[in-house]
Amino acid sequence: MERTFSIIKPDAVKAGKAGKILARIEEAGFRLVAVRQRHLTKAQAEGFYHVHQARPFFGSLVEFMTSGPCITLVLEKNGAIASLRELMGATDPAKAAAGTIRKDFAESIEANAIHGSDGPETAAFEIGYFFAGLELGSGS
Ligand code: RTP
Ligand code: MG
Repeated sequence: MERTFSIIKPDAVKAGKAGKILARIEEAGFRLVAVRQRHLTKAQAEGFYHVHQARPFFGSLVEFMTSGPCITLVLEKNGAIASLRELMGATDPAKAAAGTIRKDFAESIEANAIHGSDGPETAAFEIGYFFAGLELGSGS
């Protein structure tokens, strides 16, 4: 079993779409290992997206991610990381495939409804960033 980290982003929570997105995730066979709503601080958002700090959209991304509550998730499934990325769809909802979460729920390339880890090392970092102790696959 593999674990990945996900965020239902502030745009989707604000629009009341979190439940529908969670249902998609469960229907795709993921087990919910950890679920917690949080309102990210600027420092939390900057640290989480530190790999993007030199990108032109970084300031705007941090502003968006701190604009309201989000839901942080640890998810488990065989091949969880790749499976969630497929379920999410492309970063830009205009380019996302039919039936993906971003195609159906995202507003824009920035306000794009959901985050998912992009590899095993990123998943370990991101799970530990928000849920200390779960990154090694321990716990319930
Ligand atoms: P994520 O990390 O959130 O799962 O998204 P991703 O891998 O599909 O996309 P990534 O390149 O890692 O970008 C992280 C997030 O930054 C925002 N973004 N805005 N304005 C823009 O051109 C732009 N590009 C990216 C999105 O919220 C994206 O998910
Ligand atoms: Mg990414």
